[in-house]
Amino acid sequence: MNSYYGISIYYALLLLWASPFAAAKDKINLQWAICDKNPQDVLWKLGMGAPDPYKENPIAYYDTKPPTYISDGLMFRTKTSKGQNISTVKVRFQKETSDVPEWADCVWDRYGEKATFTCEKRCPLRPHTSTIWCKQQIEFVEHYEKVNWTELAEFGPYQNAKWKLHIQGYKAKFDDVAAGPLHLMEIEAKVPRSKEKKAYQSFTHYLKRHRIILCDPQEGKTRRLFRALGYMSDKDEL
Ligand SMILES: *[C@@H]1O[C@H](CO)[C@@H](O)[C@H](O)[C@H]1NC(C)=O
Ligand SMILES: *[C@@H]1O[C@H](CO)[C@@H](O)[C@H](O)[C@H]1NC(C)=O
Repeated sequence: MNSYYGISIYYALLLLWASPFAAAKDKINLQWAICDKNPQDVLWKLGMGAPDPYKENPIAYYDTKPPTYISDGLMFRTKTSKGQNISTVKVRFQKETSDVPEWADCVWDRYGEKATFTCEKRCPLRPHTSTIWCKQQIEFVEHYEKVNWTELAEFGPYQNAKWKLHIQGYKAKFDDVAAGPLHLMEIEAKVPRSKEKKAYQSFTHYLKRHRIILCDPQEGKTRRLFRALGYMSDKDEL
């Protein structure tokens, strides 16, 4: 093989490797925390009638009781994904960082005016064991903060229903975590970062025009749940 082809193949491989990561980071998950009473109200306001969710799975959140790790941007969950029971740990950063292992998956997330860089490690839950968190998850989180894993208490499980939407030319998802009488609802759209500002404005305008009630503050479901349970005070704001 001459060196020209060698180099071409090298770059082709490099592109193949690099592109999935680039793709994930070039997009941003725009999210709106919704404070309507229930998902039926939201779907009705959006003119969708009363469709059944396309999927509904359990989800549980974990933290100390009262919660402490959430304020440091650490999140722990179990849920069902693609028919498999999994656990997942997430670490939220205020800006993009390369200080994460290569096997962690990172995405940009935005609620309200605030974008964060969130990295995640999922592991399958092994049946017939009481172990929830795998070695890589422990190693990953403890790179940033020591965690007492046996102290983590379960909040849930709750049912998480999802619907597909089309809004302003984008595909979006609407989901509801039913935590007793409380409905933790969100609309999420994944858009290229170059379109972030425009898409965020156009979605927000659309939701307001349809009289959807946007939560104040705009924040993730775990924080909303803990706030509703009376655990979050203003000093916990990130
Ligand atoms: C997932 O967990 C639930 C609840 O523990 C159990 O009923 C179900 O069989 C599990 N599913 C799989 C695929 O292991
Ligand atoms: C972890 O938490 C458990 C339960 O609260 C406690 O008994 C144990 O001493 C803690 N371990 C450490 C190392 O702090």
